[in-house]
Amino acid sequence: MADARPCFKGLPLAPARRETRVTPTGMRRLTMQSVRYSNGAILLHWVIAIAVIVNWRIAEAGEHLPDAQRGEVMGHHMALGMTILFLTLLRLAWRLTHRPPPLASTLKPWERALARTVHTIFYVLLIGLPLGGWLATSFYGGGVNIWGLFTVPGLPVPTDEHLGHEIFHAHAFGGTVLLALVALHVLGALKHHFYDRDGNIFRMLPWSSPKA
Ligand code: HEM
Ligand code: HEM
Repeated sequence: MADARPCFKGLPLAPARRETRVTPTGMRRLTMQSVRYSNGAILLHWVIAIAVIVNWRIAEAGEHLPDAQRGEVMGHHMALGMTILFLTLLRLAWRLTHRPPPLASTLKPWERALARTVHTIFYVLLIGLPLGGWLATSFYGGGVNIWGLFTVPGLPVPTDEHLGHEIFHAHAFGGTVLLALVALHVLGALKHHFYDRDGNIFRMLPWSSPKA
C-alpha cells in the first residue's frame, strides 16, 4: 500500500525511522522525533519559564500598590529579572556547547519558520528585557540589589530620569510582547500534543524518549 506520510525535504525517511509506534498512553509518536534536548537545556528551559511567569506576576502585582510597598515588590522583580539574565546567558553558553536536536522533521514548513522565529525572539527578549531594566535603573542613578546578597552596580551612564522612564516604558511593552509569544508557544505545544499527537512535547521533558 502506498505510504502517504510526508517525507523530509523531498527525501523519503528511512523506513526504520518513520515507523509510528503507540505508547502505553496511546500517544502516536514518530521515532524520527524521539530525540530530546539535553538535560541541562531542559532544566534551564523550565527554570527560566517558571521564573519569567513569576516575574511577570510580581510586576503586575507591584503596579497597583502604594509607593512604599511597590518599591519592595519591584525590588524582587528586579532581582529575579537579573537572575533570568544570568540564567539565559548560561543557557546560551550551554546551547553553544551542547548542540540542540534539529526541529522535528514532521513539522510543516510554516511551523518550522514560526518555531524558529519565536525561539529567536525569546532569546532576544530574555536578554533585552533585563538589560533594558538594568540600563533604565542605571539612568536613575541606581544599581540592582539581589535580595540583600550583593548589589549589581549601575551601568556607567549619566543620570537621566527622562530617558530611564522612556526605557522602562519600552521594557513594559517588551514584557507584554514576551507574554503574547509565550501564549503562542504554549498553544503550539498543546496543539502538537493533543491535536497532532506527535509527541513533540517530550523533546523538552526529561523522560519518555532517548536523548539526542
Ligand atoms: C516563559 C515561558 C517559556 C519560554 C521563555 C520558552 C522558551 C523556549 C525556547 C527559547 C525554546 C527553544 C529551545 C532552543 O532551541 O534553544 C523552547 C522550546 C520548547 N518549549 Fe518552551 N518556553 C516557555 C514555556 C514553555 C511551556 C509552558 C511549554 C509546554 C507547554 C514549552 C514547551 C516547549 C517545547 C516542547 C520546546 C521544544 C520545541 C522543539 O524543539 O520542538 N515551553 N522554549
Ligand atoms: C526577563 C526579565 C524581565 C521581565 C520578563 C520583565 C517584565 C516586566 C513587565 C511585563 C513589566 C510591566 C508590568 C506592568 O506594567 O504591568 C515590567 C515592569 C518593570 N520592570 Fe521588568 N522585567 C524583567 C526584568 C527587569 C529588570 C532586570 C529590571 C530592573 C533591573 C526591571 C524593572 C522593571 C520596572 C522598574 C518596571 C516598572 C516600569 C514602569 O512601571 O514604568 N525588570 N517588567
